[in-house]
Parts: sequence; structure tokens; C-alpha cells
Amino acid sequence: MKVAVLGFGTVGFGVYEMLKNAGGLEPGSVLVRPGKNDADYKVTSISQITEDPDIWAVAEVMGGTDPAYEYVSAALCAGKHVVTSNKALVAAYGPELEKLAAENDVAFLFSAACGGAVPFLHNIALAVESDRILSLGGILNGTTNYMLDAMQSRFMTYADALADAQALGYAEADPTADVSGMDALRKIMLACAVAYNMLPDSGLCCEGIESITAEDVNHIQAKGYTCRLVTSGGLSADGRLYAYIEPVLFPANAPECSVLKNFNMAKYTGENSGQIVFMGQGAGRWPTASAVLRDLNDILHGKRFMMQPDCKRVAADNSLCEHKYYVRLSEELADSIPSDRADVYDGTARLITKPMSVKTMHDIAKELRKGGNKVFFAAIGE
Ligand SMILES: NC(=O)c1ccc[n+]([C@@H]2O[C@H](COP(=O)([O-])OP(=O)(O)OC[C@H]3O[C@@H](n4cnc5c(N)ncnc54)[C@H](OP(=O)(O)O)[C@@H]3O)[C@@H](O)[C@H]2O)c1
Repeated sequence: MKVAVLGFGTVGFGVYEMLKNAGGLEPGSVLVRPGKNDADYKVTSISQITEDPDIWAVAEVMGGTDPAYEYVSAALCAGKHVVTSNKALVAAYGPELEKLAAENDVAFLFSAACGGAVPFLHNIALAVESDRILSLGGILNGTTNYMLDAMQSRFMTYADALADAQALGYAEADPTADVSGMDALRKIMLACAVAYNMLPDSGLCCEGIESITAEDVNHIQAKGYTCRLVTSGGLSADGRLYAYIEPVLFPANAPECSVLKNFNMAKYTGENSGQIVFMGQGAGRWPTASAVLRDLNDILHGKRFMMQPDCKRVAADNSLCEHKYYVRLSEELADSIPSDRADVYDGTARLITKPMSVKTMHDIAKELRKGGNKVFFAAIGE
């Protein structure tokens, strides 16, 4: 079965090479930009793929939504199965594309878009057939995990940890999507869509690691905690979906503390299965290409969708989940947050708040920052 590849970058090259040795699959044409078609198998127009009767499936690994959405739609309408590693595309257009796939009796799978080689979505899709997923999430961004680990274990500043991650190819030249938490938030949106057939696309709370300093890490470490950037999603008893990302402080015996460098740790809790944990490489050429190949093999074995064709968009409600938070802010703002205790030193206050909802904490930080104040916060984990 011939597979066309859209995009010939980090992941695209890996997919093309792996297809050469994949049983039952072989590489077809590769879509590149005009002027870059320096070999017979490279084409520059999507119609050369959609109109080619020999192409059985398309692997979209270009990234972005424009023209990825147009090209993926065209491939599905032309009766080609599609797999993608593009979380931005699925977070923006997943329900539409899954519906289009169903209408054309072809598959649309995207497990490479969440967790790279870690078979997270793949297993959630299997689990929902026989169990109810109570909650899901974990450490889903390798770049920020690498930075937090470097800041804690090698006492690096934020800027040095970022420069180190960029030098090793873990962070892009523009790291905003990773450090702001947006990249991992999109992944939890996808995971919720697979687990609950609901794509949360508003009401989300997103706090990345941009506010953490070396002093914060020292203080947290001195108290016996480790900071990780963690995504969380789930369904409340009354059917409300929550989905958010924020830094979390874990005590030394928590499994999250053993997730080092750029590794991911994804987990879900099933009503009957209990907690299931996956660890591995969440990004990189070969790990991500291996997830694309896994989806293609699933299609060979008859799998057609990961979210249902009638997947609904919903607003997340993060007012139900409560934690205590660790908050660092200037001393004069300390009274703006209800807290149990505060360390105050040299004009800086470090508080442990009373339990408060995720939405409340994120809203307070947003308000304080509007006035130009610097605030770092992290949930206290278990
Ligand atoms: N890299 C990872 O570890 C990883 C892990 C998980 C998921 N992903 C996802 O996989 C996707 C690809 O990532 P990547 O790291 O492989 O990116 P990349 O190295 O930048 O590769 C993307 C390729 O697509 C090409 N491209 C973009 N728009 C095109 C167009 N309109 N026509 C033809 N070619 C076009 C780019 O060409 P130009 O260079 O000329 O722009 C580039 O060669 C993204 O959605 C990313 O989020 C990546």
C-alpha cells in the first residue's frame, strides 16, 4: 500500500525512510514546496497525490493549519486514508476532519500528535471500548521537562536551560508554544476528544513555565519538591469536562520526579483498569515517525477513527478541580491571595494558598499580571 507524505522535514523524512522497510506499506510521492522537487518522487501540487489512484494513504507531517487543513480535506474527499502528527490541525479542525473521513469511508488517525512514540491516544482509543476514563494527562511536553530538569539538577537559569534545549534541538528557535504550555494543552484537548468524544476548545486554563526563576527552583527544591509541567483532563460526576495545564510541585516519592530530560509521562485512570502510565520519547524524528507508522498499520487492520465522527466542541469547566498552590509574588501583593502561611524575604513572598479552584488561581494570576506584577504559581501535587 503506497503512502504519500506531505512535508519532508524532521518527521516527514523519518516517515519516508521507515516506509521503505514497513511490511505491507511503501513510500509514495512526497509533497514539497515548489523549487524543492529535486527527485522523481517529490511533487509540488496536492492534486498529484489526490488524483493518483496508487496512493492508498496520506501522512500529513507539514505542521500548521494552512494549507494542512485544505490538503487533508482534499485527501479525505479523494478517498485516501489520512494520518497526521499535527496537533494544531487536529485541535482546530479534528471534528470536521473526522466527519469528512466517515463520509468518505476512510480513516483519520492522529496518535503521533500527542506524545510522539508514547502510545497514549492509541491506548485511550482502545480503553474507551471497554472502560470509562475518569481522568487523563501527565507530562506531555519534552522541551519544558528538559528545561525544568536542567534548572533543578544542573542549577541552570531559565535562559541557559532554554539555550541548552535549543542547542540540542529539543526547543525551536521560537519556543513560545512549548514554554507557554500551548503545545501540551493542545495534546490534552486531543486526548479528551478521544476519551470523551468532546473537544474542549474554550474555557481552558493554560500556565506554562515562563514565570519560573532559578530562585523559585532553589526554594522549591529546598522544601523537598520537584516542579513539572503537567496537563490534566477529565470528566466530573455531573458530566462537565475539565482541561488545563500548569506547573505542579511533587514530593520526592512521586513518579513524576523520575521523569528526566526530555521524556514524557502520560497516564489515564480507567474506572475498572485503575491508573495506567506510559513513559517514553514524546518527540524526535524516529519516535514520532514510529507513531505515524503505528497508525498506518492500525488502518491496515481496519481501524478508522480515534475521535468519533460526531465529536462535539465544548467549553471546559475548571472551577471544579481544587488544589493548594505555591505562589511567589511581591510582598505587598501577599494579601491578595488567601493563604495558610507565607515566607517573606527581601520583598518577595512565597505562599501556600488555601485550596482553590484551578480557574480561580489562573484568573488571579492573570489579574495581577495585568498590573505588570511578576507572579509564579504551581499546584501542590501528591
Ligand atoms: N519534530 C518532532 O519531534 C515532532 C513530534 C511530534 C509532532 N510533531 C509535529 O509534526 C509536524 C511536523 O513537524 P516537523 O518537526 O517535522 O517540522 P519541520 O521539520 O519544520 O518539517 C515540516 C516540513 O513541511 C514542509 N512544508 C510546510 N508547509 C509546506 C507546504 N505548504 N508545502 C510543502 N511543504 C511544506 C516544510 O518545508 P519548509 O522547510 O520549506 O517550510 C518542512 O520541510 C508538526 O505538526 C509538529 O507539531 C513533530
